[in-house]
Amino acid sequence: MSHPMLANASHDETAEQLFVRDLQTWLYTEVEPHERKIAEELDPGLGHNDRAEAVYEALHKEPAFIGWSGMRRATQELLWDSVWTCVDRQAEGLDALASEAPELGSLTLAEDFAVPDYLEDAHVHLMPGGYGLDAEGVRQGALMDRGGAVYMLGRNGGFLNDGRGKAVAAHLACCYPDLAPERILELGCGVGSSVVPLAQAYPEAETYAVDVGASVLRYAHARAAHLGAAVHFVQDDAESTRFEDESFDVVFTAAVMHETSPEAIGRILTESHRLLRKGGVAVHLEVPVRYERLDLWSQVIAGIERDYNNEPAWKDATSADYEALMNAAGFEAVKVGFQDAVLGPDMSASKFGDESKGVFLSWFVTSGRK
Ligand SMILES: C[S@@+](CC[C@H](N)C(=O)[O-])C[C@H]1O[C@@H](n2cnc3c(N)ncnc32)[C@H](O)[C@@H]1O
Repeated sequence: MSHPMLANASHDETAEQLFVRDLQTWLYTEVEPHERKIAEELDPGLGHNDRAEAVYEALHKEPAFIGWSGMRRATQELLWDSVWTCVDRQAEGLDALASEAPELGSLTLAEDFAVPDYLEDAHVHLMPGGYGLDAEGVRQGALMDRGGAVYMLGRNGGFLNDGRGKAVAAHLACCYPDLAPERILELGCGVGSSVVPLAQAYPEAETYAVDVGASVLRYAHARAAHLGAAVHFVQDDAESTRFEDESFDVVFTAAVMHETSPEAIGRILTESHRLLRKGGVAVHLEVPVRYERLDLWSQVIAGIERDYNNEPAWKDATSADYEALMNAAGFEAVKVGFQDAVLGPDMSASKFGDESKGVFLSWFVTSGRK
């Protein structure tokens, strides 16, 4: 399933995007095992302080690794190139479509807004311009949305890319069945892929969403309205928003922490606590891995993602002690575990437990009550 705001790809653009997707899949599934073998041969063994970093460094002298990691980076650049061509060609049409969106929700942009350094210094996933860019109209949002769907290789809800939002809704339904939120807030909403499923799950609630980029937010607002969801989008910093204390019943993030900084993670948790009414619930969803449980090769991959795909906080976010951080932020009855991805129409099939079933099958979740 798709939605009206998604930039359409022509025959040739589709072919190019599918080529990039297939080339990335080939690099990950067919070539990567050879790299893993080389890494295992370089392993200094147990007892070494930071084996993964030692192997990662040694790999940089291996021609096979240099070639493979270079191709990995080149395909990511190619991905954005191919999506940009298709977005740029129809930018005016997308702006017009945005202006024709049903009058649902709202958009509030800040007059003078400073994008956090960690988003400005390194454009995450190599997306040209980054999340904070105030590109004309809805361009940057259109780039992020179509690029995100291609990047996820279609495994996170296809072109709706709504798997994370559905997992948050499933977590609330299974772990907090008594909750009937009147006001919901997403911190770090991007193009709104995750907040729309929440607005749909709780149609009686007033739903808000915050992010840093004007163009991304313009797009998110039009996208949600075309999907029939009334969401109020606000340009603000998730670490310290303009909302009053105790103004929401649910505050959530989805895949935000690993794109921030170690300090920002704690501040966003504290902010989510400040914004909740007594009895309200915060849900923070992340990639379904814990760094310490990863094998050596997956830890090496974390280094590659950090340095060549601009994911600076990936290791910090996947090794953070969320129970301690949530407690320090003031939450009670903190839960930490994995929520099954919602794979069919029945959300109640998604359970919360201790084990991850793997990427795109589970999501790491921490939640707690105020
Ligand atoms: C990977 S995207 C996820 C978007 C959305 N939550 C989803 O699930 O589709 C991470 C988003 O977090 C936003 N973000 C990171 N730090 C932020 C901050 N301090 N304030 C607001 N947004 C932030 C980024 O701008 C980006 O849009």
